[in-house]
Amino acid sequence: MTATTAAAAAYIVAALLFILSLAGLSKHETAKAGNAYGIAGMAIALAATVGLATRGISTAGLTLLVVAVVVGAAIGLWRARVVEMTGMPELIALLHSFVGLAAVLVGWNGYLSVEGADGGSPLTGTEAGIHSGEVVVGVFIGAVTFTGSIVAFLKLSARIRSNPLVLPGRNWLNLGALALFAVLTVVFVAEPNLLVLSVVTVLALALGWHLVASIGGGDMPVVVSMLNSYSGWAAAASGFLLGNDLLIITGALVGSSGAYLSYIMCKAMNRSFLSVIAGGFGNEGAAASSDVDYGEHTEITAEETAELLRDAKSVVITPGYGMAVAQAQGAVAELTRKLRAQDVDVRFGIHPVAGRLPGHMNVLLAEAKVPYDVVLEMDEINDDLAGTSVVLVIGANDTVNPAATEDPASPIAGMPVLRVWEAEHVVVFKRSMNTGYAGVQNPLFFRENSRMLFGDARERVEDILKAL
Ligand code: TAP
Repeated sequence: MTATTAAAAAYIVAALLFILSLAGLSKHETAKAGNAYGIAGMAIALAATVGLATRGISTAGLTLLVVAVVVGAAIGLWRARVVEMTGMPELIALLHSFVGLAAVLVGWNGYLSVEGADGGSPLTGTEAGIHSGEVVVGVFIGAVTFTGSIVAFLKLSARIRSNPLVLPGRNWLNLGALALFAVLTVVFVAEPNLLVLSVVTVLALALGWHLVASIGGGDMPVVVSMLNSYSGWAAAASGFLLGNDLLIITGALVGSSGAYLSYIMCKAMNRSFLSVIAGGFGNEGAAASSDVDYGEHTEITAEETAELLRDAKSVVITPGYGMAVAQAQGAVAELTRKLRAQDVDVRFGIHPVAGRLPGHMNVLLAEAKVPYDVVLEMDEINDDLAGTSVVLVIGANDTVNPAATEDPASPIAGMPVLRVWEAEHVVVFKRSMNTGYAGVQNPLFFRENSRMLFGDARERVEDILKAL
């Protein structure tokens, strides 16, 4: 068996493992196995690629490769160890930017080593055209992913404001950039040259930046999954250029699963994909709604909350980003066990975009060993909230905001939310009257049946545990 056939066989095994991994990751119970398949697939793919790449390589080349792998692996291990659960979205956005940058470099390298090679391109006819097409498309998708992911990283890590950038005629700017790209692609394929490729690169970098900068507030979840999808297509484009089948398969898997996730997110938020891409939600209304006077809020103590819970028949807990910040999941799980032991019916209501990552709350609750069967999706629990004695809103805000259903002028209007206000009592755990991610005031806090329990969510839950 030659090295090439051995690598091809290894790539097929790795591709199957990646498909098994995605299948596994789609359910709580099999997620761990899914992760293991993914790790095994990536280890096989890496070994096969390094094996292929090092055939007949010089010692200097080999040393460079080993140093790059060791440095990359060390940085990866270090980041994975220190990253907080709340920092995952920005880390993922940053990793997407690397995929984009790699695709740009692969594209440029493809151009310099073929079309731009001394003595002209060794390719002719259709083959030459296909190669140039792969170069220009790969560079374009890669560059859009690169700058788009950097802006997403900056927004998610609060290094820049998450408000959408509203340039005059922004949709026309995007459409114009796409049309220009189409024209430049034709020009480049007909006559590959450095100038056109440079213009395409700069155009795509600017488009990526503008696309994500003009999306804001509550629509950021879709951006993260959309960039996930772009990074997959960028990798697939590199796969075509490098003639690497596994990269094409993996890129297509990531690209299509990211696109599907974006679709699910849009459905969950009642947005059309195109309107999210066109951007612009989340600033104008935010300013308007913060001017509205909703009246006074009422506070409650941990002891009084314990009292409410003791008398409750049914309790629903709706966690949000604040539970992740406070790392309150362990205490919340303990509270659940305690109440269930006292025959209180305790369930969880999970909004599809609660937290900052798809499945963020599910991961935290699974980590704290909350039984899966009491963790329900928003659609499964919403109709039961009216008959619930107490709802504990732990660090959630936008996902329980009645303005989404009642105020058509609200920036989050139309987004389905957990209708917690229909319960008999609502206790909101947060540190202040500050707004959530979308920057929109929440009228829930001022309702007759709502009480605010101020402070760090974990400390307050622990106080309740003591009082119980
Ligand atoms: P948010 O609306 O972001 O609100 C979180 C609340 O937690 C804040 O109001 C904050 O209030 C409180 N909080 C923070 N730290 C706390 C602590 N230590 N103890 C107690 N409370 C704390 O949360 P959500 O309801 O989960 O909604 C998620 C939002 O993020 C949505 O707008 C969604 O569109 C967006 N988003 C989601 C994703 C994904 S994929 N899930 C990705 C990007 C963006 P205080 O500051 O007053 O404490």
